[in-house]
Amino acid sequence: MPFDTSGQISIETIGIVGSGAMGRGIAQIAALAGLKVRLFDSNAAAVGAARDYLAETFAKLTAKGKLDEFRARAALSAVSGAQTLAEFADCDLVVEAIVEQLDAKRALFRELEAIVGSRCVLASNTSSLSITAIAAGCADPARVAGFHFFNPVPLMKVVEVIDGLRSEPAAGDALMDLARRIGHTPVRAKDMPGFIVNHAGRGMNTEGLRIADEGVARFVDIDRIMREQAGFRLGPFELLDLTALDVSHPVMESIYHQFYEEPRFTPSPITATRLAGGLIGRKAGEGFYRYEDGKQQVPAEAPAPSALPPRVWISRRHPQAYEAVAELVAKAGVPLDSGTTPAADALLIVTPFGLDATSAAVDEHLDATRVVAVDALFPLNTARRRTLMTTPATTRAARDAAHALLAADGVPVTVIRDSAGFVAQRVVATIVNIGCDIAQRQIATPEDIDLAVTLGLGYPRGPLALGDALGASTILTILRNMSTLLGDPRYRPSPWLTRRAQLGLSLTQADAADAAHAAAASDASDAAHHANPTEAALPHTRHEENSQ
Ligand SMILES: NC(=O)c1ccc[n+]([C@@H]2O[C@H](COP(=O)([O-])OP(=O)(O)OC[C@H]3O[C@@H](n4cnc5c(N)ncnc54)[C@H](O)[C@@H]3O)[C@@H](O)[C@H]2O)c1
Repeated sequence: MPFDTSGQISIETIGIVGSGAMGRGIAQIAALAGLKVRLFDSNAAAVGAARDYLAETFAKLTAKGKLDEFRARAALSAVSGAQTLAEFADCDLVVEAIVEQLDAKRALFRELEAIVGSRCVLASNTSSLSITAIAAGCADPARVAGFHFFNPVPLMKVVEVIDGLRSEPAAGDALMDLARRIGHTPVRAKDMPGFIVNHAGRGMNTEGLRIADEGVARFVDIDRIMREQAGFRLGPFELLDLTALDVSHPVMESIYHQFYEEPRFTPSPITATRLAGGLIGRKAGEGFYRYEDGKQQVPAEAPAPSALPPRVWISRRHPQAYEAVAELVAKAGVPLDSGTTPAADALLIVTPFGLDATSAAVDEHLDATRVVAVDALFPLNTARRRTLMTTPATTRAARDAAHALLAADGVPVTVIRDSAGFVAQRVVATIVNIGCDIAQRQIATPEDIDLAVTLGLGYPRGPLALGDALGASTILTILRNMSTLLGDPRYRPSPWLTRRAQLGLSLTQADAADAAHAAAASDASDAAHHANPTEAALPHTRHEENSQ
């Protein structure tokens, strides 16, 4: 039966196929929001297990005072099991959360479309398959859309609504409304590999792995820098241990191949080897860290040296960074050498963006044996950690003196080997750049990209807002220098970033003409709505087409 989109699609009864981790989570939030839920699973025992799980969860929530008994009882009785898919005939929506296999999903959708009514929406919770490809198995792909929740569903408050190439916008619109009704924040995405969250999430892991692979720093050092200097909740290796490599390594490979070997997403031999060896993460007791009784074992931090340098010369290439380092030097009570040519006994501090300490030393004709580099992308005086980098020629004495200087006020310092863009600059610039590329490809609006990333990945800011906060032109400089130095196309800046940095525009800003068009279209739509309801749909429809 073809999909009927006339009028508002209202969703009151949901069928869920697959009652595993995701299916039961979706059932939980839907039932609590007052919807009727029918559960089906090819393994009949899984439906019973899901209902038992829900009963237990509702009881726990009630005991904690988070749910009143009446609502708990109503929610539980709203969830029923189905013996066959035929019992989904009167559903307004069917959400599929079965095994992640294209053939299985296609077959299921084909079967479902012969059962459900003309106004029923069919949605897939797939995280890695194309919605268009799943829908292509149906006689009418218009009713099929993506509804991608995250695990655990009740706690991860964001859901991606994905339009396939042949999806009718009304199907996605109905899912957007439903998501809000069940207390989630919906974001709308085009059908591209990884949608928004799993695409944006490439930055942290792939760059963290690349840095480790280059021998720049240990896993624990990279994590500490990303948490305490860059302000993320978790570093890349803590995150990989949590998700486990049996899940994340195949996802890394899949997204890389789906984008036809895009160098930005190149997976790492580090995870391939560790996966093969069973060091997959927390659940195996060993990943990038070891776990004893479930507790992560972290090597203790080495104490900072105490011998300060006799004097310090600081590069003036970056005036703000100069000021920030000079403040630390003054605080430590070390004399500042302000000559144009440094004194023979001075420690030489450079503050490059996207360059390594070696290139900065050579550029400024400095004695590399006395050069150290300090990452000044994040404020040096308020950060909970600082990063110090050496050239291959830097002496141990110079390194230790610089370490003592930077740690003089008690802030921990991580010493790394030479790296174009240190650790934080590299990872953050990569995250911003990938976010920009998602915007450039029009996979989602800038607003939805930042929303999806803050809610789906728990980053302190979305990639576009983060780029704005650190300065789009600084991020561009970092990437350009990294590209030049490393010669790897993975660091090429996205046109979205380059153009906005050149024009001094916010990274969150869509093209002005498009924004004006959208505003004009919505004004015209409002005006037309008041003047003549039959014409009101025209500008609105055009606007939707443009946003596909
Ligand atoms: N677990 C996650 O973190 C996560 C996050 C987002 C999306 N997803 C996606 O959600 C879907 C389900 O994942 P999950 O983690 O809940 O899996 P799961 O293994 O916990 O549950 C899947 C359930 O589907 C049933 N099933 C398998 N094939 C079926 C079929 N043909 N018909 C009916 N039932 C069938 C299984 O018996 C099982 O109970 C997958 O597409 C997955 O990619 C998972």
